[in-house]
Amino acid sequence: MRRTIIAGNWKLNGTIQETEDLITALLNGESKNDKATVLVCPPYTSLQLAAKLTSGTHIAVGAQDMSAQEKGAYTAEVSADMLLTVGVTYVILGHSERRQYHGETDRLVNKKAKLALAKGLTPIICVGETIDQREAGDTDKVIGGQIEETISGFTADMIRRSVIAYEPVWAIGTGQTATPEMAQEVHKFIREKVAATDSEAAEALPILYGGSMKPGNADGLLSQPDIDGGLIGGASLKAADFIGIIKAV
Ligand code: 13P
Repeated sequence: MRRTIIAGNWKLNGTIQETEDLITALLNGESKNDKATVLVCPPYTSLQLAAKLTSGTHIAVGAQDMSAQEKGAYTAEVSADMLLTVGVTYVILGHSERRQYHGETDRLVNKKAKLALAKGLTPIICVGETIDQREAGDTDKVIGGQIEETISGFTADMIRRSVIAYEPVWAIGTGQTATPEMAQEVHKFIREKVAATDSEAAEALPILYGGSMKPGNADGLLSQPDIDGGLIGGASLKAADFIGIIKAV
């Protein structure tokens, strides 16, 4: 049985006050589901507070990125050790917004993921195609390449300690969701691709869907055999919506 993970990627949202309000609302609401791991990923400045508020609860905390470097003269970077010291256990890597606006490559994501794993953090490695790539019939080629490169050099044990998120770029923040069948097809393809390294580890790997997931469409997506949870942007900022998705598991 694979783990189901419902993760909220808050992106550039979440002042100290907003973090306190949202986490309090989640803890006071029905955000617990024994069938799912619930995770929030606030911005760096709110991580320590988020970890403190959720300590001893069912909610885990993740960061949205981390440095590929361990320490040193890398202005504005945040290291794996720094994340660990504030109580972070997961880290999103290679989100399409990092790729698009900050030039992150599969190679860099691979380096970060290896460092995260070496430090004991769980990487959530993001892949996804653009609308042009999908319309050109290149979805498998693009996703296949991203998977190959981002998990290059991974052992079976490293796969077992990782999470992958499939986020079609055209579905992020657009309100346009992949249909459950479309998403399932890519998730299955990703699992097959990972199975080339180790089939048992691929079978146990949680693959999350991200892209306009909401309470209204979560059920259809989450009931697909290879969709093991969600990485949720917009709908994770409203406690009621995020709870609605947690309940759909
Ligand atoms: P939306 O849920 O806002 O489409 O964002 C998805 C996402 O990018 C999560 O990482």
